[in-house]
Amino acid sequence: MQSACAEIQAQVNERILEITINRPERKNALTMAMYTAMAELLNSAVNNSEIRVVILTGAEGIFTSGNDLTDFLGGSAEGEESPVFQFMSALYNFPKPVVAAVNGPAVGIGTTMLLHCDLSFAGHDALFQMPFVNLGLCPEYGSSYLLPRIAGHAKASELLLLGKKFSAQEAVEIGICNAAVEPEQAIVRAREVAAELAAKAPAAVRLSKQLLRRATQEKGLEIIQEEGRHFQDRLTSEEFKEAATAFMEKRPADFSKFD
Ligand code: COA
Repeated sequence: MQSACAEIQAQVNERILEITINRPERKNALTMAMYTAMAELLNSAVNNSEIRVVILTGAEGIFTSGNDLTDFLGGSAEGEESPVFQFMSALYNFPKPVVAAVNGPAVGIGTTMLLHCDLSFAGHDALFQMPFVNLGLCPEYGSSYLLPRIAGHAKASELLLLGKKFSAQEAVEIGICNAAVEPEQAIVRAREVAAELAAKAPAAVRLSKQLLRRATQEKGLEIIQEEGRHFQDRLTSEEFKEAATAFMEKRPADFSKFD
């Protein structure tokens, strides 16, 4: 299986497709081309009987630092035709199990995509954050709907309104990850579990995944679309411009002048 983009690597082994985000010089920040490549890989795996399980991971001790902020500042859209939405939708609707190996920082969509994976293993040095409000943005990828259901309203508010960083252990306690392991073991555990899943009756696994997600599936998509519309508006806001420019200039954002 071939990835359309050098910064997304794809390897198929024993019926497992391993997708590796590989842009370490930018902490594996995701560009539009990378989203498109991941969406294409997932979509082409749907009806490929040689693939029963997908692993998502990152190269060089980073999962992903989320959306590339330079891309966003340059006006890349989050609308339904956009590569971001195409990726979100491909993962959201993917019928086979997805296992995440969180081998380092997982920021923004790096954390929210875990809500759509089936199992995930994080290294003790992984760091999670949904810094949307800190960036003048709003929750995305269904996190405003799914996180309160997984973590409870108080915890979801803490993580989404304060945009706090949290550890692998906390991610396990919240219910976002299955286990916190030694850093080099995240990918090892993910591969072990993927092999276990790949050996099971494939139709039974797919049906069970579908049943596990059925209660939130339809509403979740509606919320992802609604969040996406707000997110796109926020990308053109002065608050986002200030936050993204401050990040690039390595200074704290100053929101004091906004109403
Ligand atoms: N988009 C664009 N560039 C990014 C990026 C992103 N999401 N994340 C990191 N980078 C760049 C940095 O600007 C820096 O560039 P420079 O070498 O030209 O200065 C380089 O990658 C290294 O990042 P740095 O922050 O110095 O690494 P770190 O190890 O100290 O921290 C992170 C790593 C992942 C914790 C930190 O980069 C981070 O929090 N990034 C998240 C950005 C973000 O808010 N993402 C959510 C978008 S919705």
